Amino acid sequence: MMFYTTAINGVFAFLIAGGILFTRGGVTNELLLNLIFYIVITPVIGTTLTKIMFMSEDAMIVSDAINRIDEVLNKKPLSESSVNNIPKNNGITLEHVSYAYDKESQAIPKKNALNDVSLSIEPGQTVALVGASGGGKTTLANIVTRFFDPGEGRVLIGNIDIRDIPKETLMNKVSFVFQNSRLIKASILENVRMAKPNATREEIAHALEAAQCLDIIEKLPNGIDTVVGTKGVYLSGGEQQRIAIARAILKNAPILILDEATAFADPDNEVRVQQALSALSKGESADSPRKTVIMIAHRLSSIADADCIYVLQDGEIVESGTHSGLIERNGIFTKMWKNYSEAAEWKILNENKGLEVNA
Ligand SMILES: Nc1ncnc2c1ncn2[C@@H]1O[C@H](COP(=O)(O)OP(=O)(O)O)[C@@H](O)[C@H]1O
Ligand SMILES: [Mg+2]
Repeated sequence: MMFYTTAINGVFAFLIAGGILFTRGGVTNELLLNLIFYIVITPVIGTTLTKIMFMSEDAMIVSDAINRIDEVLNKKPLSESSVNNIPKNNGITLEHVSYAYDKESQAIPKKNALNDVSLSIEPGQTVALVGASGGGKTTLANIVTRFFDPGEGRVLIGNIDIRDIPKETLMNKVSFVFQNSRLIKASILENVRMAKPNATREEIAHALEAAQCLDIIEKLPNGIDTVVGTKGVYLSGGEQQRIAIARAILKNAPILILDEATAFADPDNEVRVQQALSALSKGESADSPRKTVIMIAHRLSSIADADCIYVLQDGEIVESGTHSGLIERNGIFTKMWKNYSEAAEWKILNENKGLEVNA
């Protein structure tokens, strides 16, 4: 590329050098005319060549983009059921669920992302999914929200197969805060309102407060009307996550799915995110005192109170039980817990050291 650019743009140098060489035989009119002709014509050739080069590069980018758009357009929509089944409670059951991602989209075709997973969550229970990354936790969360259907087995909410629940009903039942929450380029207000289009300004402000977002809004030039993504308005991953939690609070659905919702939180706002989450998992009325919560977390201390912890490994549930029950079993979870507590201890020790140095 370097040589090409130099040659194309340095063509004047060659011409002038050539011109000087030829003037040794005396400057003739013919030589001058030739020189002027070439000086006028060569840049045209240079720019044309460069244009052709960039055009073929653009053509490649465009055809790649079109392929990707086609891929999305060719996706078959999930089947919509004609029966209007409304789940009576908020329990979740998975029966022998298996799922494999498209073999083509994988670098190395692997086995199922979920393999014969069965579990049952009573209404109002909080369950946690833990395990090494790639274990299938996110896949399971996506299947419960019906982002895709399982290859085998079925998912039931309130004893009804979610394929028989109308899309709107299902979406009203479930709210989620995902690993990679993203905000759209609109005001904070609009971003939160997405969860409930008819929400009033007060409701939205209230949700933002419950999600511990007040400090974020305070530093924005136009408060909750500030458009995110515009010049100078930047929110960190942890801050975006808290706005996503505000969305979920506003939606106030009875089933809540949290996928690594504290993953981006730095120590500074982790406590806040935790507070926001516990506000979120409270139920809205007396007859449903608690929401049904599926929580995926890598900070094991945050799930110690869960009613049941499932350990997923290579798409299978390898252990399950309460925190104390799993510790007694002395299996995989115990190992994870030991590693986790050691890491936590290490942090505290270091902090103490820091204090000593300061003293
Ligand atoms: N969109 C995808 N396409 C292909 N394979 C995927 C996709 N998402 C996840 N996988 C694969 O499925 C398995 C489970 O992934 P995931 O559910 O994201 O695990 P976890 O959330 O526990 O880290 C992994 O082996 C992963 O590589
Ligand atoms: Mg995940």
